[in-house]
Order: sequence, then C-alpha cells, then structure tokens
Amino acid sequence: MNIHTYEKAWLIASMVLIVGFIATITYGAVGPGIAMIDDDGGSVDPSEINDHERFGDPGVTHVGGNEYEVAVVAQAWSYTPSEIEVPADSEVTFYVTSRDVTHSFTVAGTNINTMVVPGEVSEMTVEFDEPDEYGILCNEYCGESHHTMEGKLNVVPEDEFDLTELSVEAPDEVEAGNETTVTATVENGMQDDLETTATLEIGGETYEEDVTVPGDDSEDVEFAVDTADLEEGDHDWTVTVDDHEESGTLTVSNSTDGGDGDA
Ligand code: CUA
Repeated sequence: MNIHTYEKAWLIASMVLIVGFIATITYGAVGPGIAMIDDDGGSVDPSEINDHERFGDPGVTHVGGNEYEVAVVAQAWSYTPSEIEVPADSEVTFYVTSRDVTHSFTVAGTNINTMVVPGEVSEMTVEFDEPDEYGILCNEYCGESHHTMEGKLNVVPEDEFDLTELSVEAPDEVEAGNETTVTATVENGMQDDLETTATLEIGGETYEEDVTVPGDDSEDVEFAVDTADLEEGDHDWTVTVDDHEESGTLTVSNSTDGGDGDA
C-alpha cells in the first residue's frame, strides 16, 4: 500500500503530539510530587485532640539527623502553633488535623497545599534548603473569619535554630547570712546531646556551670548563692543558656536586727 507523503507526515506529527500529551500529564501527576490526601496519616478523634500523643502538644519535634516533624491543629480561625520555625537544609514532615470543620493548610509559594479534614491526619514531607519566610493560609471556606486564618513558617539558618528551653526557679527573698539556691532547668528538644554552659549573674557576681543535657531530656543546674557576697536590698539576676535568658529579682532582707531594714 502506498501512503501519500503528506499523509505520512500528518500521521507522524499526530503520533508525536499524542506521546507529548501523555508525557505532560504523567509529569504533571508524578514530577512535582502532587498527591491526594488519603488515610496514610491515620485518623484522630477531634474531641480527644487535647489528649492526643501528637496533637495534644503540637509543634516542632526533632526526629534525628536533619529530620523534623511538625504537628499542627487547625481550628476556626487559626492554626496551633501559629508560628512554626524549622532549620534550613532539613526534611520536615507535617501532620495536620482539624478540631472542627474542613480547613486547608497552604504554605504560600510552595507546593504544600492540603485539605485538613476533621478526623483525618494530612501528612506531607517537604525539604527546605534555604532560609526563607512563608505565609500559611486557609484555602477552604470555613466560616465568617476564614479570610483571617493564617500562620507563619520561618525557615531559619541552621545555626540559629534550636529546641532548647530554659526555665528558672528562684526564691523572691532570702535572709542575709543565709544561702539560697537558684535552679535552672535546661530542656533539650533535639535528639543529640546538648553541651552548654549555664550562667547566673547576680549582684556583680557571675556563677558558671557546664551542663550536658542528653537528647530529648532535661537537666537541672543548681547555683548556690551565698548572701555574704550580697548587700541588703533588691538584686536583679539573670540566668543565661546560649541565646536563652530568664531574669528576676532576689531581695536580701535582714530580719535579725529587728526588722527596721527597708526589706
Ligand atoms: Cu479555615 Cu478557611
């Protein structure tokens, strides 16, 4: 059979077009990593979110290496937490659920965009290479203040990121001549050991203690403060651990001389 040259050309051209269309659709479905939400992330009872292992205390958790998990609870009309901070050069898995109605969790300028359905957990893993700031917004109409439902995602340089928490227990008042204790609790949210120094400054004196906090644990640092070094009156104190700071005031009173001091 003899096919006319023009007819042959048209046949080939239409074959090329068909293959091209299929390739485009395949790339669109697989290439940019677009996925539908499914029940991969599991389910959760919306009325028991507060007691849930993951969503009871939502936020950023270190998994190990450069991997992090972020649990987010959406509700009318906010996200908890509303501001998320993760380090650059990390792989972050988001777990998002809703307390009430259907919302979305959309990170503007990225391909993070999922529906958030009550009872379901939407799960997605994203890599963040560079420090940046993103807005989080809700794309699903969820009531009168839908348009105000927003959050923030900050990808910070690795050396600015930490999951350390500092809390300090100190007495308000101590009698002159007595010793007292200021206790700093250092919580390490990373899986790796944290080696650092806790510093207490009070009345011109500086106390320093080295501390190693195991991964996912906390450690108490006790400073014995001798009032022999302090005059009567109010003394501001500051406890510092890395970039974290807590401060307060300790009053040294003199009750032995009949209480005519101004404490
Ligand atoms: Cu939540 Cu719109």
